[in-house]
Amino acid sequence: MQEKINEIEQQIDEAVQDVQSSKSLQEIKLKFLGRTGKISELMKNMRDVPPEQRPSMGKLLNALRQWTEEKFNAIEKRLKDIELKKRYSDEKIDVTLPGRAAADGAYHPNTLVVNELVSIFSGMGFEVFEGPEIENDYYNFTALNTPADHPARDMQDTFYLAPELLLRTQTSAGQIRVMENKKPPIKILSPGKVYRSDDDATHSPMFSQMEGLVVDKGITLCDLKGMLDEFAKKIFGEGVKTRLRPSYFPFTEPSVEVDVSCFECGGKGCRLCKGTGWIEVLGAGMVNRRVLEGCGIDPDIYTGFAFGMGVERIAMLKYGINNMKLLFEGDTRFLKQFKG
Ligand code: DAH
Repeated sequence: MQEKINEIEQQIDEAVQDVQSSKSLQEIKLKFLGRTGKISELMKNMRDVPPEQRPSMGKLLNALRQWTEEKFNAIEKRLKDIELKKRYSDEKIDVTLPGRAAADGAYHPNTLVVNELVSIFSGMGFEVFEGPEIENDYYNFTALNTPADHPARDMQDTFYLAPELLLRTQTSAGQIRVMENKKPPIKILSPGKVYRSDDDATHSPMFSQMEGLVVDKGITLCDLKGMLDEFAKKIFGEGVKTRLRPSYFPFTEPSVEVDVSCFECGGKGCRLCKGTGWIEVLGAGMVNRRVLEGCGIDPDIYTGFAFGMGVERIAMLKYGINNMKLLFEGDTRFLKQFKG
């Protein structure tokens, strides 16, 4: 027996000689101390030892087991210490290194324009109202004096979701929702996305508009003109003037197209204004009495004006952007040039 014990001790010494990690140590440990390990097997064999020899044998085996356990524990402690130190040094963070600067974002030109418009018009007492992008045919067309067979429907190629349901083609739809729910005085500004089945160099199937509506007693075209003068100066610069040209929209009568004097050349004529000295910026007019009536507002007591503009168009003019697609591509090299 003593021989066997010596042999096992020797095997253990050899096995742990080059052990490098606590994990492989664990594997070696199992070979000797595990349930089917060499020492455990010896202990099981005690059954075959004659009873008178058992006490001395038992002593020897217990001593072997203790010796083995102590040996493994000592090596394990040494290896774990080394492993821990290595982990500490591998995961060390140099807190004195300079931090990485967070990349700062920039507002999209559309957002800048919308924010500026909201700020200009809220200064004049307008409230913001946002209507739904999915609209009923009624709000987008019929209530705006554009019934089903009206030729003006052709002005806007429409995405229909169902016979009565569509993606709004104009934020004007929101005017009706406001007038149905609120009695004059009304003074609202309504920004939002609109959709038209149109896609070429100067048209996008989705774009943004800003709508305005004022309804009260005694509102005239002069009020519209005065407000537009103020808006044009604030958004394009002090010297800028406005002019109204006759136009047609079903929901306004009279209807006008609004130009601003060219802020690039001061009205002399240049590439931006195509030599005319004027740049078209929005559509407007006096709210058609049929539209007021449809919303339960008496047109003999109340009058109003409305206007609608394309946000991308204003952004392109204001920031000198020559290609509308830049506003839709999300290229950060373009976008980061705009700081609010
Ligand atoms: N909804 C018109 C369009 O999308 C723009 C417009 C014109 C809006 C005149 C108005 C308005 O409120 O009075 O072309």
